[in-house]
Amino acid sequence: MEDKYQDAVQFEHLDASVKQIVNKAKEVREKAYCPYSNFSVGAALLCGDGEIIDGCNVENVSYGLTICAERSAICKAVSQGQKVFKSIAICAEMKEHFVSPCGACRQVLAEFNINMDVYLCKPNNEIFKTSMDKLLPLFFSPNSVSFSSQ
Ligand code: THU
Repeated sequence: MEDKYQDAVQFEHLDASVKQIVNKAKEVREKAYCPYSNFSVGAALLCGDGEIIDGCNVENVSYGLTICAERSAICKAVSQGQKVFKSIAICAEMKEHFVSPCGACRQVLAEFNINMDVYLCKPNNEIFKTSMDKLLPLFFSPNSVSFSSQ
């Protein structure tokens, strides 16, 4: 494993609720609709009240319309009334790397919590813990925008 993944964490050492989102992300990955890339991704959010909401990638023949697993989970969560997210687990399989959210998903996740913990996972339970503030420093924050004073 490369040096940048020195901070890999052991599944056994995770809190029970984090273990649950890791397992959920792994599980929902099986439901991905990805006939074009054959690259399935699962994500699971841990909400403020403990609820877990999952999502998978949903591709389209018009490739650019693809929705990543992370945004799919966020949209499901918000439409179910959830807006507070403590952590997200993202599961995908890439041999030498952990799969990390794309730029669009980083901005969407940061909208809700720039301090969100992010667990990048592989199906074999290798896990790398990071956070939104590390993934998107100096982000375009909802707090820094006042549309009325432009
Ligand atoms: N994908 C995700 O769902 N999440 C990520 O973090 C990375 C990429 C999806 C989008 C597309 O369906 C496939 O992976 C290949 O890019």
